[in-house]
Amino acid sequence: MDSPAHPAPGQVTDRNLALELVRVTEAAALAASRWIGLGQKNEADGAAVEAMRRAFDTVAISGTVVIGEGEMDEAPMLFIGEKVGSGGPHMDIAVDPLEGTTLTAKGGPNAIATVALAGRGGFLHAPDIYMDKIAVGGGLPEGVVDLDAPVTENLRNLARAKKCEVSDLVACILDRDRHKELIAKTREAGARIMLISDGDVAGVIATATPDSYVDIYLGSGGAPEGVLAAAALRCIGGQMQGRLMYENDSQIERARSMGVTDPRHKFSVIEMAKGDVMFAATGVTPGAMLRGVRRFGGGAITHSIVMRSRSGTVRFIEGHHNFTTKTWVSP
Ligand code: FBP
Repeated sequence: MDSPAHPAPGQVTDRNLALELVRVTEAAALAASRWIGLGQKNEADGAAVEAMRRAFDTVAISGTVVIGEGEMDEAPMLFIGEKVGSGGPHMDIAVDPLEGTTLTAKGGPNAIATVALAGRGGFLHAPDIYMDKIAVGGGLPEGVVDLDAPVTENLRNLARAKKCEVSDLVACILDRDRHKELIAKTREAGARIMLISDGDVAGVIATATPDSYVDIYLGSGGAPEGVLAAAALRCIGGQMQGRLMYENDSQIERARSMGVTDPRHKFSVIEMAKGDVMFAATGVTPGAMLRGVRRFGGGAITHSIVMRSRSGTVRFIEGHHNFTTKTWVSP
């Protein structure tokens, strides 16, 4: 219970922080939008990273990047451990300045710029490896689906909880060879599938947004993206489980060194994003949840979402940007 009629002074700062976060994702999305459809994913990513890094300079926090662009020696900016912000409360930060680099390069749907904030130790420190994921939206009985249960059973239980047939359900799955069996079993069970080429943060969030048609997210994707998606579900409501997947012993060692004590642990939403969590995203290309950046002569319009676990409030923000005054984002 945290929504008193009148916020305490500290809470006002917190509330302003939500808008600051949107400025950060807007900056990244605007920078990336310059590269939509140009076939150059690294340039798009680089532009988003640089713009997001710069935007963080004015945010009144003492932030530490815990989910970022990689290790210090492999990422020039927003690397894990990097300090960002202009000073203020100590917070951990998870970023994906451009989630959907290939989507952006090809002009495909659902690319977003995204950021999440939590208190110190709030996020699972996930190495950049795969995570097996399952997610459903809010308002369903706890444990209605389980990462270790057969697909058929999960779909049957979900259909029962949603008072529909399995054939009414839509599962969102990344279109990858490694998911061939999962896709076949989902179809065999009778559910319909929305195959996505990239962007599983948006895919997981889609399970919790009524307009999206997606009932369940299944399959493996990036572990950092898993943590960001969990942060969003903490705010918007929904269940998710994730388990890190290792290709070799050094990845297990890496996870251990980042604080994962049991490498086979099945993480819940709260274990991936605990405490008071804020999540923001701005659409880069058009998607189910967010419109993409619309550029026109001298400016652009952005569409963002910002949400917070403590209040459960979800806000959509349309930003009208004037490049003649906002020169740092102009092409
Ligand atoms: P990038 O934005 O880094 O290209 O990631 C896109 C993405 O589709 C993620 O959403 C997803 O978690 C991951 O890649 C899946 O990885 P892979 O392409 O190796 O299957």
